Amino acid sequence: MTCIPLAVVGGAFCARETEQLLLREAFRENFLIGAALNDDVVSGKDPRAAAIVAKQFNTITAENAMKWVWIHPAPNTYDFGPADRFVEFGEKNAMWIVGHALVWHSQIPDWAFEDDAGGLLTRNAMLARLKDHIGSVVGRYKGRVRAWDVVNEALTDEGGIRNSKWKQTIGEDFIAKAFEYAHQADPDAELYYNDFSLDKPAKREACVNLVKDLKARGLRVDGVGIQGHWGMDYPTTDNLEAFIIATGALGVKVMVTEMDLDILPTAWEYEGADVSKRVALQVGLNPYVDGLPPVMEKKLTDRYVELFSVLCKHSDKVDRVTFWGVYDKTSWLNNWPVRGRTSYPLLFARDYQPKPAFYAVLGAVEKKK
Ligand code: XIL
Repeated sequence: MTCIPLAVVGGAFCARETEQLLLREAFRENFLIGAALNDDVVSGKDPRAAAIVAKQFNTITAENAMKWVWIHPAPNTYDFGPADRFVEFGEKNAMWIVGHALVWHSQIPDWAFEDDAGGLLTRNAMLARLKDHIGSVVGRYKGRVRAWDVVNEALTDEGGIRNSKWKQTIGEDFIAKAFEYAHQADPDAELYYNDFSLDKPAKREACVNLVKDLKARGLRVDGVGIQGHWGMDYPTTDNLEAFIIATGALGVKVMVTEMDLDILPTAWEYEGADVSKRVALQVGLNPYVDGLPPVMEKKLTDRYVELFSVLCKHSDKVDRVTFWGVYDKTSWLNNWPVRGRTSYPLLFARDYQPKPAFYAVLGAVEKKK
């Protein structure tokens, strides 16, 4: 049998074995492992990506199909086509299906917050609109979408509540109201709070307080997702562990919901994932158009191992790890924060092949006792 030496992993895998290596099998006793899917994957336009998903993962998240701007583009107008395809794909492949995201300040049209004259809606009118939206979307997939990112990115890095139009129209309890309406629409669905940079102490503490507040109001909250759009030097493993421990202590599930690792030169000091922030393409920001040099491939692989080692160490608390995309070519990081770069953030390469990081992550599995 031919063996493929994998210097980066410090071991060797046999060709026949690599064909059988499956993330969902390797992590079965640790956590669910999944990917966010775009419409090409579920509609049949990208069958090789769909095959990777069916084989490797056991949970899927809608990358865009369920965001307000796409699923509810105009007043009283819902477009459920892509979301229906996503859910059908998940059922066909026996996936734990996660809906993303009911309440978010991005990717929502202005009209959602406005009255007919273009002014901001009153609290009561906005609450009614929120209830209609959540009831329509969650209600349609009741019993099929098993869990929802109910509120996405409501906190600031400093630990406050973001001054979004949600807050301006409803007030800070828009978060509690969203959880209340989601539970009414599907009492069996798991309900999550999702955000980036939750490893940072001020934001972590704010998130802990938020979950405590929701619970004190008697609301159902099942988990907290840290997005996981990470770099080579953030988060620190200490901060990541502190987040997992603090959140796990609340008795809710801890999840990495949008994992990808950015190895391209940093365009800025910012470590978050605010989709509205962008940087212009400049010489030097896109150095690997023809492939990652081995030294950078190793850096990426080692970083994946470092982070997965922490996640495996805490697999009694970590319930799910979802990658934000299936393979490098279609990652959102090719276009954010800089448009038109060649990026390498996932475990499967632009040609759909598993990368050294894939094998290394499998090697990092530490089974729960
Ligand atoms: C991104 C998608 O991947 C892109 O296709 C889209 O253009 C913008 O949004 N945090 C989130 C995700 O919660 O919904 C975002 O997804 C990435 C950052």
